Amino acid sequence: MQKEAPCLKVPKINGEKAITTAHKLGLVNKELEVQRDNNCIYIPLAKSPSQDEIQVLQKQDINLEITKYTFPERKTRLKTLTELLEDKLPPHLLACVPRAMDIVGDIAIIEIPPELEAYKTEIGNAVLQVHKNLRTVLAKAGAVKGEYRTRKYMTIAGEPKTRTIHKEHGCQYHIDLSKAYFSPRLSHEHKRVASMVREGETVIDMFAGVGPFSILIAKTHEHVKVYAIDINPEAIVLLEKNIRLNRVEGKVHPVLGDAKQIIKQKLRGQADRVIMNLPEKAIEFVGAACKALKPEGGTIHFYGFVTVEEPLERLEQRFREEVEKSGRSVVKIFSSRTVRETAPYEWQAVLDAEIR
Ligand SMILES: C[S@@+](CC[C@H](N)C(=O)[O-])C[C@H]1O[C@@H](n2cnc3c(N)ncnc32)[C@H](O)[C@@H]1O
Repeated sequence: MQKEAPCLKVPKINGEKAITTAHKLGLVNKELEVQRDNNCIYIPLAKSPSQDEIQVLQKQDINLEITKYTFPERKTRLKTLTELLEDKLPPHLLACVPRAMDIVGDIAIIEIPPELEAYKTEIGNAVLQVHKNLRTVLAKAGAVKGEYRTRKYMTIAGEPKTRTIHKEHGCQYHIDLSKAYFSPRLSHEHKRVASMVREGETVIDMFAGVGPFSILIAKTHEHVKVYAIDINPEAIVLLEKNIRLNRVEGKVHPVLGDAKQIIKQKLRGQADRVIMNLPEKAIEFVGAACKALKPEGGTIHFYGFVTVEEPLERLEQRFREEVEKSGRSVVKIFSSRTVRETAPYEWQAVLDAEIR
């Protein structure tokens, strides 16, 4: 964008002195860019200088002309969150401003520590200023809990809403954060598991949520059948919309209900691969996952939590015991690792296992 403004035109030789003096006098228009040609410098002014101000400049031996000139607007660097909050928060609290936030569609989710509670609106507004593409800032108002694994949120800036459309790996998802689980922190896992699926497979996503594993698998494979189960009716409504949005009708089959019951009633012996993303309880469903696999066996992606007291090796041992109990055996756990930190000294972990 270009803008016409009063201009202080000086020979190149006087340029540096003129800019410094004009700044000292508070004359410079900081939103416009200084211009130069072969002979002169053009300094944008916020207003026409008074006679006194002109005299100050002339006393510096500056050969000047006051004119009008068309300047380009300055490309201003966006301020950081901390810079924006510098004059709004006491200095000792600036260090407590959360560095990390989750972004789901046009919503930012932030954890406000108790000492910043009184400043949450300022923080929310600063987030919107830094991230111009966001519409809403939500503060976590409790832990993820209950059978549906949802949490409560409070709007601290922008439009009060929990619904949005989120893009991940070329797919789009209708999300309602207050009604069904979704975490952008699992994005890598969704892709990792989807990339292991082979053409022709039948997959059972036992705890599918709004469909980030199931839909990506269907979207990236020509011939797959994915049963996406969830016990939360709101998650199934969103999943059905997402199936349509991503045009994977006929490949992803949404099923409302308890995964254990659904497998027992209609999906025994069908799957080449089972995804078990319910870390707090998946261990109770290992028997059902084993029943879901084809008689010749298949792969299970099992999610659990690990802590210092209950490390990865213990999770593997518990998983093996549950598989044995169901009458199957673990050929090998071909990958076993932590996915992300979920609380201080607690991590979500994944085991990829070949079962016979
Ligand atoms: C941690 S979320 C995972 C959702 C999804 N896989 C993802 O990555 O976003 C677990 C999901 O399991 C569902 N769930 C809990 N118990 C269940 C059960 N017994 N049978 C089927 N789904 C269940 C919850 O409603 C929730 O949507």
